[in-house]
Amino acid sequence: MHRVTVVIALLGGLSLCAAAPSQNITSDVYFYGNSPPVYPSPEGTGTGAWATAYEKAKELVAQLTDEEKLNLTAGTSTTTGCSGVIAAIPRVNFTGLCVSDAGNGLRGTDHVNSWASGIHVGASWNKTLAHERAQYMGQEFHRKGVNLLLGPVVGPLGRVAEGGRNWEGFSNDPYLTGALVYETVRGVQGSGVGVSTKHYIGNEQETNRNPETVDGVDVASVSSNIDDKTIHELYLWPFQDAVRAGSVAIMCSYERINNSYACQNSKTLNGLLKTELGFQGYVITDWGAQHGGIASANAGLDMVMPDSTLWGANLTTAIANGSMEASRLDDMVTRILATWYQLNQDTDFPTPGIGMPSSVDSEHQAVIGTSPDEKGALLQSAVEGHVLVKNTNGALPLQSPSLVSVFGYDAKGPEALSFVASFGTYSPAIQNSTLYVGGGSGSNSPSYLSTPLDALQQQAYEDSTAVVWDVSSQDPDVDPTSEACLVFINSYATEGFDRPGLVDDWSDTLVTNVAGKCNNTIVVIHNAGIRLVYDWIDHANVTAVILAHLPGQDTGHALVNLLYGRANPSGRLPYTIAKQASDYGSVLHPSEPQTPYGLFPQSDYAEGVYIDYRAFDQQNITPQFEFGFGLSYTTFNYSELDVRQTNGSTSQYPPSATIQEGGNPRLWDEIVKVTATVQNSGSVDGDEVAQLYVGIPNGPVRQLRGFEKVHIPVGQTAQVSFSLVRRDLSTWSVDAQQWLLQLGTYQVYVGRSSRDLPLTGQFSL
Ligand SMILES: *[C@@H]1O[C@H](CO)[C@@H](O)[C@H](O)[C@H]1NC(C)=O
Ligand SMILES: *[C@@H]1O[C@H](CO)[C@@H](O)[C@H](O)[C@H]1NC(C)=O
Ligand SMILES: *[C@@H]1O[C@H](CO)[C@@H](O)[C@H](O)[C@H]1NC(C)=O
Ligand SMILES: *[C@@H]1O[C@H](CO)[C@@H](O)[C@H](O)[C@H]1NC(C)=O
Ligand SMILES: *[C@@H]1O[C@H](CO)[C@@H](O)[C@H](O)[C@H]1NC(C)=O
Ligand SMILES: *[C@@H]1O[C@H](CO)[C@@H](O)[C@H](O)[C@H]1NC(C)=O
Ligand SMILES: *[C@@H]1O[C@H](CO)[C@@H](O)[C@H](O)[C@H]1NC(C)=O
Ligand SMILES: *[C@@H]1O[C@H](CO)[C@@H](O)[C@H](O)[C@H]1NC(C)=O
Ligand SMILES: *[C@@H]1O[C@H](CO)[C@@H](O)[C@H](O)[C@H]1NC(C)=O
Ligand SMILES: *[C@@H]1O[C@H](CO)[C@@H](O)[C@H](O)[C@H]1NC(C)=O
Ligand SMILES: *[C@@H]1O[C@H](CO)[C@@H](O)[C@H](O)[C@H]1NC(C)=O
Ligand SMILES: *[C@@H]1O[C@H](CO)[C@@H](O)[C@H](O)[C@H]1NC(C)=O
Repeated sequence: MHRVTVVIALLGGLSLCAAAPSQNITSDVYFYGNSPPVYPSPEGTGTGAWATAYEKAKELVAQLTDEEKLNLTAGTSTTTGCSGVIAAIPRVNFTGLCVSDAGNGLRGTDHVNSWASGIHVGASWNKTLAHERAQYMGQEFHRKGVNLLLGPVVGPLGRVAEGGRNWEGFSNDPYLTGALVYETVRGVQGSGVGVSTKHYIGNEQETNRNPETVDGVDVASVSSNIDDKTIHELYLWPFQDAVRAGSVAIMCSYERINNSYACQNSKTLNGLLKTELGFQGYVITDWGAQHGGIASANAGLDMVMPDSTLWGANLTTAIANGSMEASRLDDMVTRILATWYQLNQDTDFPTPGIGMPSSVDSEHQAVIGTSPDEKGALLQSAVEGHVLVKNTNGALPLQSPSLVSVFGYDAKGPEALSFVASFGTYSPAIQNSTLYVGGGSGSNSPSYLSTPLDALQQQAYEDSTAVVWDVSSQDPDVDPTSEACLVFINSYATEGFDRPGLVDDWSDTLVTNVAGKCNNTIVVIHNAGIRLVYDWIDHANVTAVILAHLPGQDTGHALVNLLYGRANPSGRLPYTIAKQASDYGSVLHPSEPQTPYGLFPQSDYAEGVYIDYRAFDQQNITPQFEFGFGLSYTTFNYSELDVRQTNGSTSQYPPSATIQEGGNPRLWDEIVKVTATVQNSGSVDGDEVAQLYVGIPNGPVRQLRGFEKVHIPVGQTAQVSFSLVRRDLSTWSVDAQQWLLQLGTYQVYVGRSSRDLPLTGQFSL
């Protein structure tokens, strides 16, 4: 504990204590680990692509008064519907900033689209799709005058199986998430809108994410206690890709890391982010996540949202009395203004907030965010995140059935369609209408909603066939001439709560009731996270199962294209579906405060990198459906593995390397290239996701280190190739504080999923 006291003293009355309990800070037992102090905060240098933007920003900063500088560092009250606003400074032509939610589309306003959510894009395993979706979302934010998109999410990564916000991100695998966030950052920012990749870092549960007062006693946020190797190999990995892609902002999270609040943690902000990764943009708080005043400034925080009670004029006082350097304030402001120039928002941007009325019910002008150009990408991104996991008796695709029966609350639309996405409650499922996006700030606002039932009716109209439904009963009557019975259920999640479980009895009973009466029962689950299926997956009458994730507003249209074979399922699971919940082990549930440590809830990441498939492989647990799994209407055959070392120079880190955005540039040197041939050996055209896993000496059995999605017509072949760079083949050395290649034999696996790997090879370094 005394180490914390020392830090407090050093920083001059900071407010580690502001939100910390006043009692029982006497025992070391509360502190699994402290974050080592890393000061001073590195100044942005304007490296690489930032040079011009930094020059312009420095010129502007030189003209600002202290009060103007202070105003740039904190949000202010607004009459717009923006989630946060930085006031304009008309004297120097700075037009201000509007920042708004979130990573799956613009929330809480009209004339925008509801895009497929992060988990759906993760299930698509398609980098081009991730890029296009991001580019179009960025264009919508731009037209609506939103300078900064509050996303994408790569934390939570998905450590906790029941995590309430896992669906906002892509996958619990860092490589897959990293590849998709890279494209997302490029896509959004290519449209002239910034991103604030979030939530940095260790935001892996909703339980105890914020400090609260329970029975008159202050309870701190949960502390994510993560060792140095694990944070690098798992949780920091996708942030590194986001920084490398040029993410102009990073949002610090609500949690504590090693007992220090994320927005005042000098090790994660000054150390990992600004020194090791060479981050040039600014750190913005999650809403209300600032708990320390000068401490957070010195730890590397640059902007407070939605407003600041702790900064303001206190920063100038602190500069005057020596507890903060004037250069720190200039650095904050330079970083913020540099992003404005970097995105050309000084010359090419609408009035900030122009399309964001305080309420859609108030008098306002229509500002159209959508464009007809987006239609193709909107539908395609809805299609590709569906994962077919069971298909027997030729159940799918449907062959012009004369009668289809539809069951389940999730088939129909809601009573009212609102732009104001709700923060939901702690609920397993049964939101009583089709689930197309999760709840909370990551929710989005549809222009319309194509429900499964609407789309099936349209199909029946076109085919002159019949569709009947009962979307309320749990034990519906079934017309025995039904050629297919479609059952729609969902699994809900929302910000603010972790999920109460990975199944719900009401929905499972509905499925088994229908399956008892219909020998061609096809189950569609809209799932905002992992959903287990053990109750009925082996039922002989359950002939097909689709994990439909969160497709956005084109949900029904996309699904019917797949059911009727106009599109071939190409999604793959971005997580593991276990046979039973307990197989997730210690990371099934979020950490709960334990007596006697209740005032300072702790979450020890003792499992290290062994989450999801890494843990199942390590413990030899057979999953129901493994990571990377998904069926197609065709089959693919793998052959001709070639593994070759392309760079003779496998020396460890050349120490001279200068840090660029994303870290040491030598990390991206290609060391090994792997190629393979994939053939479409079935009877319809299809898309395959060829996956490469590597077993690094002394590491997990295997880890995803490459994937390529290819379209292959019937009978044709495609060559897939994977470039393995230094980071892909290294492990983090705590002693060297570097990524180091391992001397020994690496295993190489290529195939259809993490457990269906027909091609194996190896190489040695
Ligand atoms: C402080 O913690 C100890 C256990 O270490 C416990 O016995 C005691 O009741 C706690 N005191 C308060 C005021 O919570
Ligand atoms: C957290 O503590 C662990 C264990 O002491 C250490 O390995 C790690 O570097 C620390 N991380 C941070 C961000 O403080
Ligand atoms: C700073 O912000 C405050 C509150 O929004 C405002 O009243 C003041 O005029 C601003 N100062 C300058 C110099 O822009
Ligand atoms: C602000 O813009 C006006 C009009 O373009 C220009 O004349 C003026 O010089 C600008 N002021 C500053 C401080 O850049
Ligand atoms: C990947 O996504 C793009 C953009 O949506 C799409 O055009 C392409 O067909 C997809 N690729 C595969 C192989 O499915
Ligand atoms: C300075 O900080 C104190 C709390 O430490 C706060 O009450 C006060 O409002 C702050 N002043 C300004 C100008 O923000
Ligand atoms: C310096 O000013 C800051 C901000 O008002 C205050 O929190 C801190 O206690 C002061 N420190 C000293 C040594 O006066
Ligand atoms: C959904 O419907 C069921 C059954 O009619 C009801 O018990 C439940 O409260 C409803 N749930 C929600 C979230 O509306
Ligand atoms: C399967 O469905 C048929 C009706 O088509 C029903 O008679 C049979 O009992 C069902 N099988 C089971 C195992 O429920
Ligand atoms: C399913 O039931 C229908 C009639 O209800 C029957 O025609 C068909 O042969 C059955 N299919 C199987 C695979 O048992
Ligand atoms: C091979 O490695 C050396 C040393 O790390 C590096 O300078 C070079 O750029 C690499 N070549 C390729 C093709 O990545
Ligand atoms: C798959 O490839 C192997 C050899 O590469 C070949 O012998 C086999 O016939 C192929 N299978 C199909 C179904 O095309």
